[in-house]
Amino acid sequence: MTDAFTDKIAAYRREIDRDLAQLNLPAYPEGLYDPMRYSVGAPGKRIRPLLTFLMGEGLGVPHQRLRPAALAVEILHAFTLVHDDIMDNDTKRRGLDTVHVKWNVNTAILSGDGLMALAFRQLMESKATRIRRMGLEFSQAMLEICEGQALDIAFEKRLDVTTTEYLEMVGKKTGRLLGLACQLAALIADAEPEMVDSLNRFGIELGQAFQIQDDLLEISSDAEKMGKSLDSDIVSGKKTYPLLLMLTDMTKSEKVSFLDFMKANLTNRPGILEAFQQKEIINRTTDTISQMLEKALRRLAELPAQAAADLTYLVEMISKRQR
Ligand code: IPE
Ligand code: IPE
Ligand code: MG
Ligand code: MG
Repeated sequence: MTDAFTDKIAAYRREIDRDLAQLNLPAYPEGLYDPMRYSVGAPGKRIRPLLTFLMGEGLGVPHQRLRPAALAVEILHAFTLVHDDIMDNDTKRRGLDTVHVKWNVNTAILSGDGLMALAFRQLMESKATRIRRMGLEFSQAMLEICEGQALDIAFEKRLDVTTTEYLEMVGKKTGRLLGLACQLAALIADAEPEMVDSLNRFGIELGQAFQIQDDLLEISSDAEKMGKSLDSDIVSGKKTYPLLLMLTDMTKSEKVSFLDFMKANLTNRPGILEAFQQKEIINRTTDTISQMLEKALRRLAELPAQAAADLTYLVEMISKRQR
């Protein structure tokens, strides 16, 4: 990664933060707009709008024409986080109290709904000629995120989830939104249908790797660094990728014992990490992430050189993240 690229990303992030702060949401009713402002304004990494900007500019679209779609994907992301935190019963997000903790569950449901509407309205500000298709993909992506979330919840109760099922689930709950961020840029650039599909696939594969990495960080990092609660995955029986590797080849009673061990060691995270390390699961998970990223990166070969270089740097930046 070059310094020039790091500076470029920092400048984009400042611009995204500024645009999000200038959405001009009304003051009243404050029970709706205060939590909406709080949620989009909280310090996120802004990966999804960065993807839209880098992809779109790499395909020759002027920066300004990408803004509505870039903001829309970030606002849609904020919506999914507010509702996800209710579903996961999490108390911290981006270093702050979650909306349902700071206010209450009803406020979080409502402001999430408001964010979803705001995201769609932002998208419709786009002057792109293929706006109808963009609206369709946006709605379809929202549905697939809901499907992914439904699978994520259904898997909590199961002990026989396969890695194939896991990849489908994270491809939907996390990957599809990254796919959408890329796909919208390609549609604005009026790219060929094959390119639009391939860039959606790139985002989905990147998202799968991103989620596996997130699962891994939840074991190897800590809540302070991540800026979000980490215990709920264990308490709720979430089938994360490292856990699935751990449970492979165990009998049903061994699986139950291991999940009990994790719950009993919530405050002993080094102990949990050690159990995963003993079975080489941290290394195996890191290998899977690398393979998935390689697969995603191969799709960039079709892009103009500058776009491929920028997106390769972005993937590298994401793969080194600590939160
Ligand atoms: C969090 O996404 C949800 C996952 C898909 C793991 P990010 O890690 O991109 O969250 P922010 O936007 O930086 O807070
Ligand atoms: C991320 O889900 C995907 C969505 C929010 C739709 P997770 O529940 O795995 O992500 P974190 O750990 O809360 O960020
Ligand atoms: Mg969550
Ligand atoms: Mg979740």
